[in-house]
Parts: sequence; C-alpha cells; structure tokens
Amino acid sequence: MHIVFAASECVPFAKTGGLADVVGALPRQIVKLGHRVTVYLPFYARVRARMEKEHAGAEFKYAVRSITIPFRYYNRFVDIVDGGVRDGVQFYFVDCPELFDRPELYGPRGGEYADNAERFGLFCRAVLEAGKQIGVPDVFHVHDWQTGLIPVYLRNTYAADPMLRRAATVLTIHNAAYQGTFPPPTTEQLLFPWDLFTMDKVEQYDRFNFLKGGVVFSDLLTTVSRTYAEEIQTPEFGWNLEGVLRERAADLHGILNGVDYTRWNPATDGYLAAHYTGSDLTGKRACREDLLHAFGLPNVAETTPVIGIVSRLATQKGFDMVARIGEELAQRDVAIVALGTGEPVFENFFRDWVFRHPAQVAAQIRYDEALAHKVEAGADIFLMPSRYEPCGLNQIYSLKYGTVPVVRATGGLEDTVDQWNAEQGTGTGFKFKGYDPRDLLAAVDRALAAFQDRAGWERLMRNGMGRDYGWEAPAREYAQVYEEAARRKA
Ligand code: ADP
Ligand code: GLC
Repeated sequence: MHIVFAASECVPFAKTGGLADVVGALPRQIVKLGHRVTVYLPFYARVRARMEKEHAGAEFKYAVRSITIPFRYYNRFVDIVDGGVRDGVQFYFVDCPELFDRPELYGPRGGEYADNAERFGLFCRAVLEAGKQIGVPDVFHVHDWQTGLIPVYLRNTYAADPMLRRAATVLTIHNAAYQGTFPPPTTEQLLFPWDLFTMDKVEQYDRFNFLKGGVVFSDLLTTVSRTYAEEIQTPEFGWNLEGVLRERAADLHGILNGVDYTRWNPATDGYLAAHYTGSDLTGKRACREDLLHAFGLPNVAETTPVIGIVSRLATQKGFDMVARIGEELAQRDVAIVALGTGEPVFENFFRDWVFRHPAQVAAQIRYDEALAHKVEAGADIFLMPSRYEPCGLNQIYSLKYGTVPVVRATGGLEDTVDQWNAEQGTGTGFKFKGYDPRDLLAAVDRALAAFQDRAGWERLMRNGMGRDYGWEAPAREYAQVYEEAARRKA
C-alpha cells in the first residue's frame, strides 16, 4: 500500500510536542513493513532554513510547481518542494511563503496566527492536489485538527474526482482539546457549501470545527492510547466532541504511541555526559552531575532525589496543582529541575518558585532538545501530573532512562505506568487518581520514601528500563487500520 502522512509537525523538521515525534518515527516503521510512505509538511521558515543548510546554497528540487488553491476572492499558488527520501520515507513540503514562512508553527507565544484556517485549509487542499500529480495513495493518514479538512475536502469538494474517489482516510487524534475552530464565514472562505455548516458535519456551537470535520468524514479514527479512546467519549475529555465520537465508537481504535529508541536510549544518546543500561547503571551518576551543573544546582547531596520536568506549560499538564503544593514540596529533601515553555501563568509560577528556593529549584523557560535528553537521563524522578494526557511520551522516555515516573492516572499515563509494589518488587512508577494537589503530593511522598531504599529503587528503575515501547507493535496495528480503511473504499 501507499500511505500519505499529512501533518503539521515532524522531527527533525518542526516540533512543538509529541506529534512531531510520532510523525518522525511511525512512517519509517510502516516502510519496514513493506509499504510505501510519503510525508507532507508545511514549508515553515525553520524547514526552509534546514533545507537551505542541507543544500548549501544550491536550489532545492521542486516536485510540482504552481498548484492553484482557490479561495473565495482570490487564488493562492503553492509549490511542492522535494524533501528527498530519508530512511525510505519520501518527504514533500508545501511551499506558500505568505502563509508558512514565519517564525512559529501556529502563532506567537503559544497563541494562534489569525489566518490559521486559511493556512491549514490551504495545506490540506494542497496535499490532495499534489497527490493527484505525484501519486494518489491508498490511504491519507491525517493528524489532529490541522489536517482534519483532508477527509472533508475528499468527501465533498472532491467527491466525484476520478483520481481521488478511491482514496481512504484515517484520522489520528493526538489531542481532542485542540480542535481548530473558526468563525462561520470560514465555510465560504474555503469554498465549502453552506450545507456543510451543520451540526452533523463541521459545525460545533456556531464555529467551523476542523477536527469535527475530520471525525465525521474519515473512514477510520485512531487515538494514541486505549484509555484516551474511552475518555474522549465522555464530556470531561471530549471537549464537546464526545457525542460525535460516541457515534463513531465502532470505527475508533486506541493505539498506544511507540518510542523511537534510536533517539531516546541512554545506551546511545549523543546528548548525554555518559551512557548506561539496566545492567550497568554507573553512567547515570555522571548524567545527574551533568544535569545539576547545567541547571546551576551543584550542591545537591547525593542522597537527595532530583525531580525532573520537561513539558509544554499548558493547562493540560497539571502545573496548577504543582503550584498549589510548591511550598510544601520545597520543605522536603528534594531538588527540582524544570524545562518548559508555554502559558505565562505557568512560566511565572516556575520563575517564582526558583526565586523562593534557589538552592533547590531550577527552571529553564525555553525549548531545548539537548537539555530535554539530559533531564530524562539525569533526574531520579520524572513528574507528569497531567489533567489529561492522550498518550504522553516523556513518561515512556523516562522509563527507558531509569527515571521513575510520578504521574496522574489518565490516558496514556494510566496505560504505560504500573504502580510500584515494594513487597513484590513489581511496577514501574507512582500513580495517583484524583485531580487534587493532596493526591499529587502523597504520590511524590511515596516516591521520595521509596528512593531511600536503594536496592528497591534500583529494582524499580530496572523494571521500567526493561519495558519495550518500540514502534514495531503499534506500526503493525496501524497497518491493519490502513488495510481496513482501504477495504472499505474498494
Ligand atoms: P505533548 O505532545 O502533549 O507536549 P508528549 O509527552 O507526547 O506531550 O511529547 C512532548 C515532547 O516534546 C517530548 O519529546 C518532549 O521531550 C518535548 N518537549 C516538550 N517541551 C520541551 C522543551 N521545553 N524543550 C525540549 N523538548 C520539549
Ligand atoms: C499530543 C498529546 C500527547 C501525545 C502526543 C503524540 O500532543 O498531548 O499526550 O503523546 O500528542 O501523540
């Protein structure tokens, strides 16, 4: 089969979160299963910069020139840049400088560009048009709201198109809270008929909703853990899409994300001060020293556990709870290192926490790939108290790095972390259920107490390090979903 991935993020080209990790790894694994895979991404400023560096001044290759994308009052013209074949995966970039040649992917400081409906509407249509010239796949695999309109275009605007008619679509929901909602005139702006703007199609509370369109018109749906697949069918996690998701429950599969162990493995990770494995943990000590040095906390005693945080600082991630227990936690014998950017209220909480406890708490308010790896390796405990978490990758990285996760039992966190049982020596971390700062503190306290028993702790570390969350098994599940979707169109 030929699968086209259309997405707004992909490592190493453009990343704000886990979506990029998934789109960077899954296609390669699908290729290994014998399929052909093509990935389309917007040609953002940072992707252009990367390509310019790779080409050292030479012209890029264009696969297609001047595709016309019509809007209500004007046309736009896009080129398709040939990104080359990497690990067997063909990359193409949708080049429309007016819309994509900007410093951010979605908007300044975690916000939104005003023309995001036009940007991602154009991207979706360009992928379909490019496909007609370069190769129509058996399946378009689209991701989150940014590419949610591909199925909508396909089943409406292009419904009678002889080239696209047989192509199937699979939508993966990485986060149901981000839906891409825009004012009603978006319907006309993107040249959709008004009869699409109804409750059973793209309309949701008088907004044009990209993700809802994707949910309604895709042949099959997936999301990134089994628990989250259940959760999004409830009001708490469905963010008003629970109804339409329940209607499609039979077509919705929960497939847990894998981890790219070529990038995230303490035995080979190029960002680390030393390497280590489950059978020889010695290198982790040097990683801890290196981490404390990088965060300017050189005087933390060896017996003091280090809690690490790497996160988008968004409401999703539960730092409002951490803020509520900040003072109490600082009374414990513990050091905290945090790496993250996002909403000002959370950035300011961390700055303030550091200000009040400079010998114990350190934070770097930025995006830093290398430092993220250092935290995974150098910390003793990884904290991820999410309000909701579709899958979550950091806790899975932590397991591999022997950095014991303390998580809230929701979504993929529930599915990937097993409660530590000291008597039996089973489990991989610490989970708490309620979205309550007291429950969070109690779970952290259990971890801090367990850390004092060195032998038990090493057992706990090794339990996590021994888990395999590679992409092999999930890729096979995706291949089955592609086959089922293609069968339905046959
Ligand atoms: P989400 O996609 O919701 O942000 P995930 O846990 O799935 O959560 O993925 C987050 C990814 O983004 C991980 O690869 C993590 O290392 C990375 N990340 C998040 N914040 C930062 C940061 N400030 N610097 C570097 N990497 C970050
Ligand atoms: C989203 C989710 C995260 C998930 C990632 C990759 O960003 O918030 O939980 O791991 O997508 O699927």
